[in-house]
Amino acid sequence: MPQLKDTYPLYLNNKAAQPNTDLEVTDKFTGEVAFRTALATPDVIEEAIAGAVRAAEPMAKMASFERKAVLEHCVKRFRERYDELAYSLCVEAGKPIKDAEGEVDRLIDTFQIAAEESTRNYGEVQPLDISARAKGYMGMWKRVPIGPCSFISPFNFPLNLAAHKIAPAIAVGCPFVMKPASKTPLGALIMGEVLAETDLPEGAFSILPASRDGADLFTVDERLKLLSFTGSPGVGWALKAKAGKKPVILELGGNAAVIVDKDADLDHALERIIFGAFYQSGQSCIGVQRIIIHEDIYDTFKDMLIAKTKTLVSGDPKDRDTFIGPMISDKEAGRLKGWIDDAVSQGASLLCGGGLSNGNMLEATLLENVPAKADANWEEAFGPLANLSKFSDFNQALEQVNHSKFGLQAGVFTRDLHQVLDAWDTLDVGGVVVNDVSSYRVDNMPYGGVKDSGLGREGIRFAMEDMTEIRNLVIRRL
Ligand code: SIN
Repeated sequence: MPQLKDTYPLYLNNKAAQPNTDLEVTDKFTGEVAFRTALATPDVIEEAIAGAVRAAEPMAKMASFERKAVLEHCVKRFRERYDELAYSLCVEAGKPIKDAEGEVDRLIDTFQIAAEESTRNYGEVQPLDISARAKGYMGMWKRVPIGPCSFISPFNFPLNLAAHKIAPAIAVGCPFVMKPASKTPLGALIMGEVLAETDLPEGAFSILPASRDGADLFTVDERLKLLSFTGSPGVGWALKAKAGKKPVILELGGNAAVIVDKDADLDHALERIIFGAFYQSGQSCIGVQRIIIHEDIYDTFKDMLIAKTKTLVSGDPKDRDTFIGPMISDKEAGRLKGWIDDAVSQGASLLCGGGLSNGNMLEATLLENVPAKADANWEEAFGPLANLSKFSDFNQALEQVNHSKFGLQAGVFTRDLHQVLDAWDTLDVGGVVVNDVSSYRVDNMPYGGVKDSGLGREGIRFAMEDMTEIRNLVIRRL
């Protein structure tokens, strides 16, 4: 087993620094302090922003092959440090080791995609002679880096969701300051350690754990030209209101749905839905929360879901057999347990699970007949809970999916191409996944939501667009 160190530095203007050891990070399964790191004070954040401003020009001047080399270095080092990275997620996030390894695989993909995209930051030549007044004119545009960026990343994918901000920033040449989640800062700090091995211009990056109260500068400072936040809807929309003139990208939450039609391959749907609802204890923005099942197969599929859910092994995330580990905190587990009990008191049936032990070990839980506006259905569960409901007509199932304030991704299990196209046309979400779950994501695809689920798209190319401005050139031939 890899070992964690007792303390980790933060990264200020590309260099390790340890101004204090004020942030204690616990092992989410044992509850013991796993390591300490620093909390950035407003002075430190100010130094980082000033450094990022100074780095904007040298970063913009880097050749694309140089940016690619930095990203390729990261890919190589993440491969070499694979076990350590996975173990750190397992400890700080309580992520079962197999899921943690899956996240490291995705981290490597994300940086690899960015390395490839970094040399494809293309512009376009545009004929402007569309009318007599523009005869002899031509235009062309290119993309230039937007400038210093501010990134705030969440606890549930401490590596890969930080990577979805860091890697495209390097690919286009934007310096950045990042605040990783205080409960899980280590993933991003190890990325800082790897980036510190490269020749990025001084000030290109700072990775600064900070308390939420002390972190206002990440949002309000006008020298930062973009804010990209991944986290809860409540926090994200409040940040946007404070962000001033800068564009804001919000990757927020949801209560994602899957439809299981009567012609679906039920064994396949079962395997994927159990995974999509319960992997990493449901702590994914696109985790399956609502399972909408055709009435003809409802009872059969419900029995299959209950039987399979009861077999899920819960326990120590370091154990390879564990499927359900701890939730991130006692508070979050208690909040969701409260929602489950509340739904039952409003008439929902508890099909399995519902038990809470050890403060943050919540059982994989299935409910049915949950009132639409009960928190367990209407709000983002962000934990191991899924609710079953029935439909008779496919259009009615689509309406049920859309009956939500969120719209991130949805899954549809069907063999009918017409229904696939209807779902793609009708579902008010950022992405529709056919014959797989809402939770499915490959790191080069456009990813993001509509309605309360957010603004903008990640997925390297799409984030690179947000991190650049179009600069046009008009030429008149004399
Ligand atoms: C999220 O939870 O925000 C992202 C999910 C993923 O990348 O798989």
